[in-house]
Amino acid sequence: MTMHLTIALSKGRIFQETLPLLAAAGIVPVDDPETSRKLILDTNQSDVKLVIIRATDVPIYVQHGAADVGVAGKDVLLEHGGEGLYEPLDLRIARCRLMVAGDPNHQPRLSRPRIATKYINTTRRWFADQGRQVEVIKLYGSMELAPLVGLADYIVDVVDTGNTLKANGLAPLEHIANISSRLIINKAAMKMKHARIKAIMEQMATVIGA
Ligand code: ATP
Ligand code: PRP
Repeated sequence: MTMHLTIALSKGRIFQETLPLLAAAGIVPVDDPETSRKLILDTNQSDVKLVIIRATDVPIYVQHGAADVGVAGKDVLLEHGGEGLYEPLDLRIARCRLMVAGDPNHQPRLSRPRIATKYINTTRRWFADQGRQVEVIKLYGSMELAPLVGLADYIVDVVDTGNTLKANGLAPLEHIANISSRLIINKAAMKMKHARIKAIMEQMATVIGA
């Protein structure tokens, strides 16, 4: 019996940086998601498919078994909560830091500072753990704009070079977590397809951080 394997990836940096890890596991996509409109990509292995979805949707597909395996940023996993998932391997790709940022000269409102972010769960937890009362505003992108137009006092977002913050007159203020992408596995698939998944993990591990 052949065991099909579905791997969930987001396009852009995660797809690009996962390619060499897949190659180490002998998996080479046939199409390029940047040019193809296909959402299911064939690979050189007839029983391995890649599904191309939004970064925040990757843990959802894997949790529900619509994909067996996925690659997701730790920022996305912290926000998702990790339910139904194993997270056995740090791929050490797409590395950045999750941070509170703002205009260092801005005087925040005294009562409940407003925080704009797409990471509302992680943000609530970060401030609640310190007993700080804040109002969290959910955004879907371009968080750096929020403090510039008075929507929020601070943002929570990922920072790599800091160029995006700097270009908008903002500065990193508090470090919440170091971020990298993780291999995630559906819990049932880990049992049912164990040999196959274990082999992929071992092959990927040989080139991580190389
Ligand atoms: P979408 O485009 O669907 O809203 P996204 O913009 O978060 O999602 P990407 O920009 O591809 O998607 O980011 C994917 C992951 O890469 C993030 O979850 C994070 O872990 C990491 N990441 C994001 N920005 C950077 C960066 N500037 N440098 C390094 N890693 C990053
Ligand atoms: C991410 C993130 C920040 C930026 C941080 O956005 O939302 O805006 O990267 O990176 P930096 O500190 O190096 O500026 P996005 O995915 O749009 O970044 P990209 O432009 O690198 O794709």
